Amino acid sequence: MNIIETQGLTKTFKSRVGKGKEAKVVEAVKGVDMQVRQGEIFGFLGPNGAGKSTTMRMLATLLTPTSGHAIVVGHDLAIAPEQVRERIGYVGQAGGTEESLTGMENLMLQAQLYRLSYADAKKRADLLIDKLELAQFATRLVKTYSGGQRRRLDLAMGMVHHPTLLFLDEPTTGLDPQSRARLWEEVRKLRDEGTTIFITTHYLDEADALADRLAIIDGGRIVSEGTPDALKRQIGGDVISLGFDAQNGARDRAGDLLRAQPFVREVRQAEHGISLIVEGGDSALPNVLRLLDGAGMPIQTVSMARPSLDDVFLRLTGHSLREAPEGA
Ligand SMILES: Nc1ncnc2c1ncn2[C@@H]1O[C@H](COP(=O)(O)OP(=O)(O)OP(=O)(O)O)[C@@H](O)[C@H]1O
Ligand SMILES: [Mg+2]
Repeated sequence: MNIIETQGLTKTFKSRVGKGKEAKVVEAVKGVDMQVRQGEIFGFLGPNGAGKSTTMRMLATLLTPTSGHAIVVGHDLAIAPEQVRERIGYVGQAGGTEESLTGMENLMLQAQLYRLSYADAKKRADLLIDKLELAQFATRLVKTYSGGQRRRLDLAMGMVHHPTLLFLDEPTTGLDPQSRARLWEEVRKLRDEGTTIFITTHYLDEADALADRLAIIDGGRIVSEGTPDALKRQIGGDVISLGFDAQNGARDRAGDLLRAQPFVREVRQAEHGISLIVEGGDSALPNVLRLLDGAGMPIQTVSMARPSLDDVFLRLTGHSLREAPEGA
């Protein structure tokens, strides 16, 4: 069953730069169609400015779409936003905790906002503190928390009212690897207990490791949707990366030579060399080495790998997720 279904979801911002000036129009989301299934971790992957937060904020009833339709937890966003709001949790990119209160006080406040009685709020807060292992610092002011502790509290805040669907906007940005891994574990646990998670990220490894399925968004448009494996399989073949001495122009000559080979499907410039997408890497690799050696082009490094989500992104958009221009 689909817990989210959108058709042509669009958001256009108009902002006036100054008095009397022309309004500036930003098409942040340009007709998004997607389906999120109940019980999955759905990753929403894209570079800065791709439209991830804007899409998420529309689905979470915090922004009104300019056009298009969406059904979220069984209700039409435009007709029954209240019903949607009751059944979803939302943790924004900046978090939603009050710095000058303790973690416990924040949870209590949130629970009471959702109209729980004091006693029920206390019960719920205690349970979440236990579940997300916040006990060590729950009675300290939030402003003293580490980044990872803060994000775990954010997660608890989003869970206070037992949402069936939880929206997390870049929950691990800025965290060290250990805290990220920890948060991934918490997210998986929530999924295993039946909560559907919609999570935005611009980390390829995060989308790869965490998402059951994902959509890639670039410039306000979905460019692909599927499981990480299926997306990588679309590329087919293997990726061979070759490093050359930067000085002698070998990179360009090698590129030309390899491009002409029937088993080479694609040649791209990489930082210190080139990368190739080839059919059957195991047999292609010795051929590549023999060719370059025969042409007197010394290679400094060579490696082979299965396609990554970055290769998928590059193929679909023409640019690497890492180097996608800000606001493009
Ligand atoms: N309130 C607003 N007014 C005008 N433009 C906006 C507004 N909110 C977002 N935008 C623009 O819409 C585009 C998409 O923004 P959005 O925040 O959805 O991107 P994002 O994918 O979440 O990026 P990031 O990874 O940096 O969080 C950007 O160009 C942004 O500047
Ligand atoms: Mg964002």
